[in-house]
Amino acid sequence: MTSHPDGPAGPVADRATAGFTSEYADPPAGVWAAPGRVNLIGEHTDYNDGFVLPFALPQRTVVAAAPERGRRWTVWSEQAGERISFGRADAAEPGRVSGWAAYVAGVVWALREAGHDVPVARLAITSDVPLGAGLSSSAALESAVLTALVDLGELDLPLADRPALAQRAENDYAGVPCGIMDQSASLRCQPGHALFLDCRSLAVEQVPFDLDAAGLAILVIDSNAPHRHAGGEYAARRAACESAAAALGVPALRDVAADQLDATLARLDDKTVRRRVRHVVTENQRVLDTVELLRAGRIAEIGPLLTASHASMRDDFEITVPEVDTAVEVALATGAYGARMTGGGFGGCVLALVDAAAADTVASAVTEAYAGRGFRAPTPFTVTPGAGAQRLR
Ligand code: GLA
Repeated sequence: MTSHPDGPAGPVADRATAGFTSEYADPPAGVWAAPGRVNLIGEHTDYNDGFVLPFALPQRTVVAAAPERGRRWTVWSEQAGERISFGRADAAEPGRVSGWAAYVAGVVWALREAGHDVPVARLAITSDVPLGAGLSSSAALESAVLTALVDLGELDLPLADRPALAQRAENDYAGVPCGIMDQSASLRCQPGHALFLDCRSLAVEQVPFDLDAAGLAILVIDSNAPHRHAGGEYAARRAACESAAAALGVPALRDVAADQLDATLARLDDKTVRRRVRHVVTENQRVLDTVELLRAGRIAEIGPLLTASHASMRDDFEITVPEVDTAVEVALATGAYGARMTGGGFGGCVLALVDAAAADTVASAVTEAYAGRGFRAPTPFTVTPGAGAQRLR
């Protein structure tokens, strides 16, 4: 099992610099990085105007960049193994650039839509954020590119306004109907803290989350389960929540009070919709309860809230798969304080809160259980809360 032995983006940053120099035969003007995220708790609450509590991964996407005198943005990606370029007309119309590069062109588009004079640039991109694992590799890409372009062009864009802009790139250029959590995490998280975000007011609180001092660890288990219909199911959950809010006559499910839940559910005819609403309302309350415990430094006590969140995602929101349920079940049976799937669902990762000394034992038990059930082997690794987007060099 690894815990990111490379250190804070060191070798990834070196690869971005080397990649830039070999692709463009010039050194970059600077190097920027933005992390993937793990969400500690608060799933499918962001687009319901609710609460989330993510923290940044040590794994990051790195962009080496320099301004360019020509008229086209050029982007090389180590992982895609290709170099593409696009001009103003492509960046003016969603859909003209597709695949991984849509997230780059989307950021240029969203900045220009917001009235910024975006510098034309050459970029080289590397990353050690696992792709397609529900750890927000796309938000890391958007956030790293955004931060690089804002700095290169000396654009006037306060940090607090950046997540909405990166989200716009993803929603309206790349066509993915995500909420604002992942971009907020990648841009605004701080080392040693979880980010308590009110997705309506966009107010944030950096909540201390010092696992080392408490002798604890967060074990992330990438289930490596193939994503099953993730895109369509995500959009369907979002639509169900929005129509439930409309039926209840509230702006968003965030406005359903937890202590009025039963009375509110009784007003909804459809059993499935009732369960979706119950997940969102109880999950918002679990985020608030988790924040209270963390503020008091009682980290181990958040375990039952994590586990209850998983049960709610499994039974009420119905977004888990057997691989992630197995990881949670085995982690709990092996002594984890709590465990839950993290991210949008239908595959992806589980996080388990464990004694630091027990991380290897829990990881091995999950790996063994996967073999026994005929699942693809999982990838377990421990994480500590890392830094949000920043300039490295
Ligand atoms: C994905 C989306 C987020 C959020 C989560 C679920 O990660 O990008 O906006 O909705 O799913 O909590």
